[in-house]
Amino acid sequence: MAGNRTFTMIKPGAVRKNYEGAILKMINDAGFKIRAMKLTRMSTTQAGAFYEVHKGKPFYDNLVKFMSSGPIVAAILEKENAIEDFRKLIGATNPENAAEGTVRKLFACSVTENAVHGADSDENATREADFFFSTFERFYDYE
Ligand code: TYD
Repeated sequence: MAGNRTFTMIKPGAVRKNYEGAILKMINDAGFKIRAMKLTRMSTTQAGAFYEVHKGKPFYDNLVKFMSSGPIVAAILEKENAIEDFRKLIGATNPENAAEGTVRKLFACSVTENAVHGADSDENATREADFFFSTFERFYDYE
């Protein structure tokens, strides 16, 4: 992802409440360009694999159940310093601790149903983007 791209998902709870438009507007307004995007739904097996790193933690089963409970919006975003700036835009994992004006503060209902995902490293952004998108679904050279 070369430092300037990140991967995000708008999670099932936020899509269920029709928040995706408002969240995408915040993302665009913060200077991110959308380089790939789709509305899709993960099976429990896929959600389990996506969150494999959390396997064995007390919240894992519930997280997998929630993340496969309905459609999500998956996207690749581009901006300088994308990973860090996007994590700032979305706020803390638990919305109770998220700063005012962040996506999670505005749209999350709990630590599990926390509205959005944001990759936490270049390596994970690459792995997560590859999980959802083929080369033909990415528009890195488009201006
Ligand atoms: P984590 O990678 O710690 O947070 P983030 O999404 O901010 O990078 O956790 C991944 C997801 O797991 C998180 O978005 C929601 C869920 N989760 C819980 O359901 N309960 C918890 O106590 C934690 C820490 C995470």
